[in-house]
Amino acid sequence: MPSTTKMMYFLSSAILSAGGVAILGYGMSANWAQCTMVCAPLQSTQFNGSANIKMGLFNGTEVKVTCPRFGSDDVITVFKRLEEIGGAALALHGLVVGLLALALVGSAGSLLITLYNTVSNPYETYLGPIGLFTCSGLSASLAFLALVLYLINVLVVKVGQEIAQHNAGVTVKDEEVNFLLGFYLLLPYIVVNLLAILFVYLWAHMANTHRRQQEKPTEDAPKDIMMF
Ligand SMILES: *[C@@H]1O[C@H](CO)[C@@H](O)[C@H](O)[C@H]1NC(C)=O
Repeated sequence: MPSTTKMMYFLSSAILSAGGVAILGYGMSANWAQCTMVCAPLQSTQFNGSANIKMGLFNGTEVKVTCPRFGSDDVITVFKRLEEIGGAALALHGLVVGLLALALVGSAGSLLITLYNTVSNPYETYLGPIGLFTCSGLSASLAFLALVLYLINVLVVKVGQEIAQHNAGVTVKDEEVNFLLGFYLLLPYIVVNLLAILFVYLWAHMANTHRRQQEKPTEDAPKDIMMF
């Protein structure tokens, strides 16, 4: 049976990993960005309409005023619309969702590994600290990559404009982009993964120091002989 100290460290890490699963799971279903644009008929420079796209990773809403019709309000399936558009917008969005799905699997792995370690001692195997470092490290890195790719998709590729213009016979210009809760939740998600690593790292460091101290007399003996 592991010591109480070890249990405390791994349990803390397990709670952080569970928090990560909850944060990312919720974040993936929340709204990620809102793009407000002005809108003009094709081949016109009279931007007197407006379009507003609010989107999560999977669903969204589109509110258009005089763009091209007098007023319209639609529910969007993000992947369906992006599949019609294709290109970089679809590729980046697919990557973001794929990377986050993998990150979620990594967090679930971290949770299982830390729970296993609170009740057992698989120390030197991949189910010990090494497994936790791998899973949580991977989750944090994938989430960071997804964050960067999502920023590129919204700010550089301008996925909001592509969605608003698609098959609408209009030209749009960005007025304002706001990132929403789902996107911002990537930050606490990355932080809890790093903290989960820190707790287990601290424990492994302590355990190592402890072991080295106990081994010291036998280790030092040959050295002393060589010195004299
Ligand atoms: C997408 O669905 C989620 C969960 O059902 C909901 O909370 C969110 O408001 C929806 N997003 C939009 C832009 O309609």
